[in-house]
Amino acid sequence: MAAGDDDVDATEKSTFRCLDAARWVVAAAVMVVIVAVTAYAFKVVFRPGTLSLSIVGGSVAVERIHGSNSSSSSNASSSSQNLTFTYSLHAMNPSGRIRIYYTNIRAKLKAINSTKDDNSFLFLRLPDVALAPQSAVDTFLKMTTAAKAPFQEEYFRELRNGTSIGKAWIELNGTLVVENFSGHNMTPVTSTLYYCWPIVVLGGDEDDDSGGTAGSVSNAPCTDKPPTTVPPAS
Ligand SMILES: *[C@@H]1O[C@H](CO)[C@@H](O)[C@H](O)[C@H]1NC(C)=O
Ligand SMILES: *[C@@H]1O[C@H](CO)[C@@H](O)[C@H](O)[C@H]1NC(C)=O
Ligand SMILES: *[C@@H]1O[C@H](CO)[C@@H](O)[C@H](O)[C@H]1NC(C)=O
Ligand SMILES: *[C@@H]1O[C@H](CO)[C@@H](O)[C@H](O)[C@H]1NC(C)=O
Ligand SMILES: *[C@@H]1O[C@H](CO)[C@@H](O)[C@H](O)[C@H]1NC(C)=O
Ligand SMILES: *[C@@H]1O[C@H](CO)[C@@H](O)[C@H](O)[C@H]1NC(C)=O
Ligand SMILES: *[C@@H]1O[C@H](CO)[C@@H](O)[C@H](O)[C@H]1NC(C)=O
Repeated sequence: MAAGDDDVDATEKSTFRCLDAARWVVAAAVMVVIVAVTAYAFKVVFRPGTLSLSIVGGSVAVERIHGSNSSSSSNASSSSQNLTFTYSLHAMNPSGRIRIYYTNIRAKLKAINSTKDDNSFLFLRLPDVALAPQSAVDTFLKMTTAAKAPFQEEYFRELRNGTSIGKAWIELNGTLVVENFSGHNMTPVTSTLYYCWPIVVLGGDEDDDSGGTAGSVSNAPCTDKPPTTVPPAS
């Protein structure tokens, strides 16, 4: 009888031990989840420069300027050297706490030319970006220009001819300021570089926008990582 009681005791004890172990495991798992969530929240709220930038559609659209045909424009050939470049920069502040200012931005569109040199063949001054907590802004950029330096000519010739340039990227250099809830700067004011890639420069079509739609896929993210030596093909 007593031996039987002992047996019951023993099984009960081991059952409890099992339950304890299970409870401990669950508690540990919950703890890990909490730590992970807290770490993530901490990262989002306090890591300076959580500015999220990307190039919409991962592409730059190019249009040729139609040499106006209607009138006696024997001059059309010179004006049609111009190309119109358009792209959009998407800027987002995912944080609920901080304000982000990215100002004084200069954007360079770069690609490798046929002799393997990388050239910046389009330079743009961008409007300042000011982001309230959890807000996003799209900046639409448009520039009409002709090739001005000899090294630009290869790119312009290809684009005018309707050829797209893959393996391109955009470099942004601007002043990044992160402000906390009470309006204090959380970071020293520094010039911050972003590399957006891969970018496809969609070869020029005359006037209509058929060149701008083909490559609309996902946005090209802008990070602090320069493109790997040979950016991925388009
Ligand atoms: C200009 O327009 C005329 C008719 O309006 C057309 O015959 C001619 O091909 C056009 N030229 C070009 C270069 O588009
Ligand atoms: C082009 O236009 C300019 C004025 O806009 C004129 O002086 C020049 O002679 C024209 N060139 C040709 C080839 O027609
Ligand atoms: C490529 O770029 C380099 C550097 O700017 C330039 O010297 C070279 O002529 C370019 N190649 C061509 C084919 O345009
Ligand atoms: C071509 O671009 C230049 C600036 O690079 C501008 O002065 C000129 O007016 C443009 N021509 C046309 C026809 O858009
Ligand atoms: C322009 O395109 C044509 C065919 O589309 C091609 O034969 C020609 O080589 C191209 N020219 C340049 C400079 O890319
Ligand atoms: C970015 O801009 C700053 C300020 O004009 C300049 O000092 C710095 O050299 C630039 N960096 C690059 C990589 O162009
Ligand atoms: C904002 O930053 C300033 C300076 O770093 C600090 O003194 C202040 O307590 C911060 N305020 C908040 C709400 O985090």
